[in-house]
Amino acid sequence: MPLDYPTDPVHPLAAVTHAAPYDYYRRLADGPPLRFDASLDCWLATGMAGVQAVLAHPACRVRPLGLAVPHNLAGTPCGAIFAELVRMNEGERHAVPKQVLAHALGQVDLARLHARSLHLAQEQLPGSAARLNDAIFELPLFAMADLLGFAPAQWPALAAWTRDFVACLSPLSNGAQLAGAQVAAEALLQRFTALLHEEDALPGSLLHDVVAGALQAGWHASGGVVANLVGLLSQTCEATAGLLGNAVVALRTQADLLSQLRATPQRWPAMLREVSRHDPSIHNTRRYTAEDVAFNGVRVPAGQMIVVVLASAGHDAGGHAAPCFGHGRHVCPGQSIAHAIATACLQAWGDALERLPLAWTYLPSLNARIPVFSPGEMT
Ligand code: HEM
Repeated sequence: MPLDYPTDPVHPLAAVTHAAPYDYYRRLADGPPLRFDASLDCWLATGMAGVQAVLAHPACRVRPLGLAVPHNLAGTPCGAIFAELVRMNEGERHAVPKQVLAHALGQVDLARLHARSLHLAQEQLPGSAARLNDAIFELPLFAMADLLGFAPAQWPALAAWTRDFVACLSPLSNGAQLAGAQVAAEALLQRFTALLHEEDALPGSLLHDVVAGALQAGWHASGGVVANLVGLLSQTCEATAGLLGNAVVALRTQADLLSQLRATPQRWPAMLREVSRHDPSIHNTRRYTAEDVAFNGVRVPAGQMIVVVLASAGHDAGGHAAPCFGHGRHVCPGQSIAHAIATACLQAWGDALERLPLAWTYLPSLNARIPVFSPGEMT
């Protein structure tokens, strides 16, 4: 790295949890849209053009060819879920379930979700940094569990299992975390299967809408439906915690932002869109080339990994959209839901947060930027 940027992250995976990575991302966006990174031994897609081109390319797949499930998860409860997730599949195994999930999520009454989340968040005001760290994970998961049709008594266990389960998706997890993820996967599969058979819980719930949509679309694999219902919790977990945490950071670092939002609450959606662009929770995703591909004269051979640096696209001087919710076939169907929940939490917690002395670092991760708060200075 040039000497005039002494504190730059060493590569895009280190940028995710770096204190101030956005000049670096801006410079990545200024460079070639596709380049080979020798330090990571993989390709990088950067800036709006690189990110969009790779995410739109049919030969750039979410999994390496012939390896639908990572070796360490094969034949396990985590592997059984992983194998079915729309997020981890292509072609028919992706298109129909994706359509069903996107349709059901699109039917969610966002005003009602906001009102429910506001009520839940008001009951759990974070009175300390430690409590805030738990709340940014719990509240979105409680709101999703409620939406799915689970009774309140089940939410804490579901949230804890979801947090344990997502450890199987991170290369940074140790043996104990991977073992915990398997226990959690089994418990989640069991709880969702039980809810599916509890007829009382169904009408009006998101679970009901997904099951009805699956029947209508001819998506009959019940294991696949249950796995993707678990997937709705796991996709919510870190991404929405990060959005909430990074929004708290914005409120703490931008003088007057909270008072402006109090005066004009209709600006909350724009504020969260700006956090999602400027300081997003998901910084990168990966694709694997199934055949040789060429982008603007750059040839990437088959069998290569491409780190798609989503966060650099949000900092592209020529960019025009906030792409941290992805793009192309696998674009996130949960954006409005995440924003409704996050708006409610921040509205409920605004006053309490203002009084909390906070400092923060970031949870170790190669793709998600989630603050860990500690008691610190008043800012
Ligand atoms: C701030 C919160 C969120 C962020 C930043 C986020 C981000 C993303 C991103 C970047 C992707 C695409 C990954 C890729 O292409 O490799 C994605 C996919 C997905 N997200 Fe989200 N997400 C969020 C919340 C949610 C929520 C609340 C749900 C569920 C209600 C959800 C459900 C999904 C699903 C099912 C996919 C897979 C889509 C597919 O592969 O077709 N997400 N999300």
